[in-house]
Amino acid sequence: MNKRANFATRLGAILAAAGSAVGLGNIWRFPCETGANGGAAFILVYIFCIAFITVPVLIAELAAGRESRTNVYDAFRTLPKKTILGRHGRIVWTFVGAMCVLAGFLVFSYYSVVAGWTLQYTIEAGIDSFAGKTSAQFAADFNTFISDPVRPALPMIAFIVTTTVIVTLGVQRGIELASKIMMPLLLVLLGVLACCSLTLPGASAGLEFLFKPDFSKITPQVAISAMGQAFFTLSVGMGCLMTYASYFSDKVNIVKDAFSVAFIDSCVAILAGVIIFPAAMSVGVSPDTGPTLVFITLPNVFQQAFGATPWLCYGVTVLFYLLLVMAALTSTISMLEITTAFVSEKFGLSRRKSAVMLGTVTCVAGFACSMSFGNWSDVTLFGMGFFDLFDYFVAKLVMPIGGIFMCLLMRSLGKEKVVSMLTNNGTLRLRRFAEAFYFLVSWGIPVLIMLIFLSELRG
Ligand code: TRP
Repeated sequence: MNKRANFATRLGAILAAAGSAVGLGNIWRFPCETGANGGAAFILVYIFCIAFITVPVLIAELAAGRESRTNVYDAFRTLPKKTILGRHGRIVWTFVGAMCVLAGFLVFSYYSVVAGWTLQYTIEAGIDSFAGKTSAQFAADFNTFISDPVRPALPMIAFIVTTTVIVTLGVQRGIELASKIMMPLLLVLLGVLACCSLTLPGASAGLEFLFKPDFSKITPQVAISAMGQAFFTLSVGMGCLMTYASYFSDKVNIVKDAFSVAFIDSCVAILAGVIIFPAAMSVGVSPDTGPTLVFITLPNVFQQAFGATPWLCYGVTVLFYLLLVMAALTSTISMLEITTAFVSEKFGLSRRKSAVMLGTVTCVAGFACSMSFGNWSDVTLFGMGFFDLFDYFVAKLVMPIGGIFMCLLMRSLGKEKVVSMLTNNGTLRLRRFAEAFYFLVSWGIPVLIMLIFLSELRG
């Protein structure tokens, strides 16, 4: 059997995992959720969810992935030891593995649609076609664009092809290299843009919205949204980082890396807020405009906020969309890797063949998602078009359910095994932490996820 691929360096492994986590979820979804759920209060609940729910699930995923050294599907089939799920345990685990692979395919399909929009906007900003547009024009142009059958499909396909090429290059020369180039660039861009935003007059109102909590705004709805966001932004619950961790070396300190990834990811989300809210509030735009915030409100906000200095306005706009493109790309790579690892290992195909095949099928599924904003808007299932349906299935069902099963997986391995996995066979001094972790994942976290999940289904 071939030797399985590995990340070459520890930094490469962290940057790849952080690249998966940092994405449209941070720069597009997070500001819009924060805006819709009352600002700082939402951020507090979100940080709680990250620290006490999704970071432990992330640790479980990384530990399971490294232990299994295989794709998600086979990991769920081979890892569980104690029969905590009763007589039909095997079938249940197989089902969970299959669900993760399916979700990996679906998330790549609909995410690519939005990623395509960001590419289109980068190009438009690059040829300076935003200058002088009014806010009504931004809205009208965006709606015409996304409902067109062909125009959004082109950047989407370009995006899928780029992702596929990087994945075919393999773990070290593709994923690791791309992350090592794009992640530092992305952090620098974020810093520069945040500084630009902070210099605007009236920026402090935006900061207040972000950092001064109004506790009366915390409702069950806010908790549900915060948990959903915490899962999505760390890419946990469907074996994405489990797949990456299967390429980790035995020496990686999983606990430390999980905290690093969560820290980088949260900083990026908050910095995105620092870019967006001060700019929006400095021109009197309310922050709760919803999902179109980044595509309709923001280009207009940049025009008004930086309009006095045309080169700055041009620069900020182009760099902002470029930032979105890079963030999205490091995430789509991780999505395609879930299914590529599965197909190539399960069916014995080469990485190249598997990735190209999956990329092609994704173009078709992505096209269906894109069309659900236009001609196919009335093709619905459970009252949702393809885009919303895929998003619902992945973010609202698979991720929390997958999260619960990641915890159950730890429980089925037993305390001693889990402690040995986290401490790298006793070489790291993390025994206390590992024991506390085992206790949390085998009781508290699944119950907490279940509670929030059920209230979501009811609501
Ligand atoms: N976490 C990424 C973001 O914030 C998205 C992402 C990457 C993802 N891989 C995933 C989401 C797997 C769900 C599942 O944009």
